[in-house]
Amino acid sequence: MSEEQPPPPSSSPPPPPPPALLKPAPPAPKGPLKSAQQVEVDQSKVWNLWFTRREFLTLAAWGTFLAWLGGSLATALRYFIPSMTYDAPSVFKIGKPEEYSIGVVDERWKKKHRIWVVRDTSLEGGGIYVIFARCTHLGCTPNWLEGQRKFKCPCHGSGYRRTGVNFEGPAPRPMERCKLVLADDGQILVDLSTRFKNPKDWKKPEVYLKA
Ligand code: FES
Repeated sequence: MSEEQPPPPSSSPPPPPPPALLKPAPPAPKGPLKSAQQVEVDQSKVWNLWFTRREFLTLAAWGTFLAWLGGSLATALRYFIPSMTYDAPSVFKIGKPEEYSIGVVDERWKKKHRIWVVRDTSLEGGGIYVIFARCTHLGCTPNWLEGQRKFKCPCHGSGYRRTGVNFEGPAPRPMERCKLVLADDGQILVDLSTRFKNPKDWKKPEVYLKA
């Protein structure tokens, strides 16, 4: 009978344990665990470092009061101080009559004062008039189309002749003309606040300035 022989001892050393196994276990917490109530008390201690509840309520009340006071003061100031506007003036000078070419619709004041200045030929009467550049349909600003010799509104297509009289589109009446006089220094003085709707008024001296 042959007896079983134990395996021969290995010549290589055993492999080192993985590094995770070498880490020491975290120390066990000392003392008993905190209850939920204790955690809440601790948090209130942190809160008390900044405000007490009473201080917080006092601050909130003051904030509300000051906001109300500021709003009331702003309303009162708006009532007592008249609102100011910085619009362009309604009365202004536009230079001398000879600065405007005969038979031309002059657009130099359209952007600033919303007007065109037109100087008629001698056959038409030779005068100067000012058209307020506002469409009588819904108030858009028309454009002067030199090639077609007409004003055309870009909003709904109303058309006006060089005189400002409507002839196409939904515009119900001509564009208005502005009052103008010759000032002492020889310049034309325009008054935007006085405008004339009715063509019957357009030959009056304060609407049609003989150049
Ligand atoms: S606003 Fe000019 S056509 Fe309507």
